[in-house]
Amino acid sequence: MGSDSAKQNAARAALEFVREGMDLGIGTGSTVDIFIDLLAESGLRPGQVVSSSDRSTRRLEGHGIEVSELNNVAGLDLYVDGADESNRLLQLIKGGGGALTREKIVAAASKRFVCIADHSKLVRALGDFPLPIEVIPMARSLVARELTRLGGRPSWREGFTTDNGNWILDVSGLNMNEPIKLEQRLNNIPGVVTVGLFALKGADVLLLGSEDGVERIDSRRDG
Ligand code: 5RP
Repeated sequence: MGSDSAKQNAARAALEFVREGMDLGIGTGSTVDIFIDLLAESGLRPGQVVSSSDRSTRRLEGHGIEVSELNNVAGLDLYVDGADESNRLLQLIKGGGGALTREKIVAAASKRFVCIADHSKLVRALGDFPLPIEVIPMARSLVARELTRLGGRPSWREGFTTDNGNWILDVSGLNMNEPIKLEQRLNNIPGVVTVGLFALKGADVLLLGSEDGVERIDSRRDG
């Protein structure tokens, strides 16, 4: 669990990527909550703002920031979101907060994805954090059996329903040596809505906060 000051440092560093009038995508989680508060305090006026969850929408609107529907926006300049794990290639595991589907959609609509996290989220190899997978409720057992066949140990996040009305399986034990291939393989299971692996399209910039400051890692794809 990262400290609040580490998250604060990462979130503050992300604010430097925001320019007046930019169309922004906003992710979900405790680090993003801090970013939203800092954005509101900063007095910067973004263009259109699209949110990845009901939780972030409530927080943005609580600050008087209007939230637009993605369908009404041609594209976004910048997406700011957290992660549960990142490797040095900026491939991510996301979905600890259950907002992975909208997060993947808003990330896909954005020119640049700046990921903010505390330093504990940087890992040598992905997979200690159980991989969240959003599934259509009627397919939960079918998908779980298929994940078991692939060597995973799925666990149903009971009592949790996503903003899209679906369920989450948290999967341990999958071989993540080839994250892109795994994401493609899992995407093909009928009943899977979204896989919390962001490897086909990871982050462009990772800002890792610690107590003393921020480490920035740029994707090899970026600039
Ligand atoms: C939500 C996410 C979050 O970005 C992730 O869980 C990190 O959250 P936090 O900033 O609270 O550590 O993917 O679905």
